[in-house]
Amino acid sequence: MLEKQSVVIAGGGSTYTAGIIMMLINNQDKFPLRKLKLYDNDFERQKIVADACDIIIKERAPQIEFIASTDPEEAFTDVDFVMAHIRQGGLPMREKDEKIPLKFGVLGQETCGPGGIAYGMRSITGVIELIDYMQKYSPNAWMLNYSNPASIVAEATRVLRPDAKIINICDMPVAIKQAMADIVGLKSGNEIVDRYYGLNHFGWWTEVRDKEGNDLMPKLKEHVSKHGYAPDVSVDNPMLAEASWMDTYQKARDVYAVDPDTLPNTYLKYYMYPDYVTKHSDPNHTRANEVMENREKNIFAECKRIVSQQTAKDTNIEAGEHAEFIVQLAGALAFNTHERMLLIVKNEGAIANVDPNAMVEVPCIVSKRGYEPLSMGNVPHLQKGMIEQQVSVEKLVVEAYIEKSYTKLWQALTLSKTVPSASVAKEILNALIEANKEYWPELK
Ligand code: NAD
Ligand code: G6P
Ligand code: MN
Repeated sequence: MLEKQSVVIAGGGSTYTAGIIMMLINNQDKFPLRKLKLYDNDFERQKIVADACDIIIKERAPQIEFIASTDPEEAFTDVDFVMAHIRQGGLPMREKDEKIPLKFGVLGQETCGPGGIAYGMRSITGVIELIDYMQKYSPNAWMLNYSNPASIVAEATRVLRPDAKIINICDMPVAIKQAMADIVGLKSGNEIVDRYYGLNHFGWWTEVRDKEGNDLMPKLKEHVSKHGYAPDVSVDNPMLAEASWMDTYQKARDVYAVDPDTLPNTYLKYYMYPDYVTKHSDPNHTRANEVMENREKNIFAECKRIVSQQTAKDTNIEAGEHAEFIVQLAGALAFNTHERMLLIVKNEGAIANVDPNAMVEVPCIVSKRGYEPLSMGNVPHLQKGMIEQQVSVEKLVVEAYIEKSYTKLWQALTLSKTVPSASVAKEILNALIEANKEYWPELK
């Protein structure tokens, strides 16, 4: 019998919460819950999601005690895990992160380039606050963080809360591994054993095998060289129903061409083909608008419908299957499963020729004692150069935040591979400061 766990989801009003709760309900055999709490700093927003989730849980898993709260003490007391997915400033600020750089001819993306830097400067405050609540009210708990931008958040927590029990994780490699499984005819990305190195949203696969140890790289390379990670036959993947994600999956073909020895993370398109991305962006309608017009609108309408009907029996909210990695991670920590997973952790030699204090994304073995990164050896010149440049950008952002330094943030933007010059960096910075007044520390 597995011991029942208590979880708080921070960012309870997120567009992902309902799907994650469905997924948790479906995984009660692997990760049983005694208590599930939602926490958010926006009462109204969270209430819409929470009222629907209350009905879902009463119908499908009534044994789980469920509450939603905006009170940190109530939310963080007696929990084993904090699952954090907050978005400081919400989707309207994401829209600004994406649109402001585009005004200056630079790509606008929520986690990469200037947009990611701006979002990072906001997120640090929110995630550190969550860590402090966890350490105060449930000091033995683990925080599983997927609030973005995960790289900058990870670096900030390494510096500001070095003893915190926090693991940063991203679903992009999980989604790409599912695409790989589809390409080679495996059922699930969980059947793949990989070697991978880099940073969050910035990494490369050097090996992809099945559980029997068969090398899947030749078949994958042949496919990616033609189609990227887009399937050549129809597969059931809701993400790929969206044109913008399909384009990202296809563009992996051109990213792969730059280094045919490895398979790339999709996000490398923003660093290797920023001109292409900018050219194909609509400065008046970015991904934030798509998310607000679709995912956010639909999920909130469905939550309200569930509450008005007082039943979720016929709901179309799907269990976020791609979110199952969260249960794998929490289960590994709680039940010692020695799961092998890609996590964002302190390098400490995992990538031998990269700064030991960089926060890198590498395979780790996860068990009751925490995570143990696997050794990925030395990386070649292309990756080493790109990684070191991006690590320095992220470290400069965190230093700028802590020291409230205008100059360091200007340096970070100037160093970003996505920004052409210090003068453009300065123009973008000044516009971002204006837009983020409410959220950033005041820079000197
Ligand atoms: P969202 O705006 O719908 O939800 C975020 C919620 O967090 C909101 O309800 C908001 O009120 C709340 N919030 C903001 N600041 C807070 C704070 N300081 N304390 C408590 N609550 C706070 O956003 P979304 O599109 O659902 O995304 C949620 C987050 O998950 C984002 O950070 C997004 O980038 C991230 N995400 C990460 C991954 C990954 O793989 N790492 C995958 C998907 C989404
Ligand atoms: C992937 C990334 C996340 C990111 C998300 C954005 O899942 O791993 O880090 O938040 O994409 O998706 P969206 O649909 O909000 O553009
Ligand atoms: Mn991610």
